[in-house]
Amino acid sequence: MDPAIRTDGLRKAYGDVQALDGLTFEVDRGEFFGLLGPNGAGKTTFINVLVGLVRKDGGTAEVFGFDVEGEYRQARDRIGLAPQEFNVDRFFPIHEVLEHKAGYHGVPQGEAERRAEEALKTVGIWEKRDTRFDWLSGGMKRRFLLARALVTEPELLILDEPTAGVDVQLRRDLWRVIERLNAGGTTILLTTHYIEEAERLCDRVAIVDSGRIVEVSTPDELRSRGTDQVHLTLSERPAAVPALDVEGVVETRLEGSTLVVTAQGGGTVAPDLLRELEYEGYDVLDLDIRRASLEEVFVDMTRTDEAAEPMGVIQ
Ligand SMILES: Nc1ncnc2c1ncn2[C@@H]1O[C@H](COP(=O)(O)OP(=O)(O)OP(=O)(O)O)[C@@H](O)[C@H]1O
Ligand SMILES: [Mg+2]
Repeated sequence: MDPAIRTDGLRKAYGDVQALDGLTFEVDRGEFFGLLGPNGAGKTTFINVLVGLVRKDGGTAEVFGFDVEGEYRQARDRIGLAPQEFNVDRFFPIHEVLEHKAGYHGVPQGEAERRAEEALKTVGIWEKRDTRFDWLSGGMKRRFLLARALVTEPELLILDEPTAGVDVQLRRDLWRVIERLNAGGTTILLTTHYIEEAERLCDRVAIVDSGRIVEVSTPDELRSRGTDQVHLTLSERPAAVPALDVEGVVETRLEGSTLVVTAQGGGTVAPDLLRELEYEGYDVLDLDIRRASLEEVFVDMTRTDEAAEPMGVIQ
């Protein structure tokens, strides 16, 4: 079976800007896939190529095996998109906007009305059905964009920063809705700047930078590349930093009576640390492992040269 998304050597330039520079990767059917990358990395451009809003300069892109240009209709009918920018017909009641959208994708009127109702209820703005888009609050607008993406019952749901600027409650509501859809078999492609969101939701993430894939991996695997911190509280402040002969330890320092150990794989190093400290005669009162965050690893991977060298190097 063809994957949900397959792209190979995808290229797109806007003047001098190479927005996509040989983008190659696949998203499996049923996957919850995250696209992470700094502003301008090419995420939205990629999505726009998939839905036919942007014409690629080179390479291939397929959705469920359908070429996004040669077989536009088949590809597009399978995608529901909640875009980053609002692009909604502002003058009609929102339930009508949804019915038009479903109709455009070949859904008959009665069925379109049923789906519009279901989608508005799913995102919790059914009571606003007769309101114009303009008159919704910012968070409701985000909810509406998700409803519009759902009204065609897509096999592939693409969410381009669906939770940008929304409150914590709405973010959790949206997560619940898309997790349920994914559990029901819908493939999800999500872009986000909230790393916590990617960590929590995605099976795999691709890190995109300057129009290319830097890495594709699971959030756990990526996190394991960062270093963890093991905090060990001792009963007394030692006179000097105890010398610890434990594999994986990168750095050891004292903060009062707490020994802070930076290590690769905090979970596996911690028992060895405890044993070693006990053996050396220290009394450990408390242990706390702070895992590396995906954010830390992500920032490392996409750091620009200027950011890496904040002082600049003039030659
Ligand atoms: N229509 C356009 N005309 C000219 N340049 C564009 C156009 N659309 C995008 N670009 C440029 O292409 C690059 C990639 O933009 P894109 O919107 O794909 O990034 P992004 O990864 O979605 O970023 P963000 O996280 O800010 O949403 C940027 O340098 C952007 O300025
Ligand atoms: Mg974008």
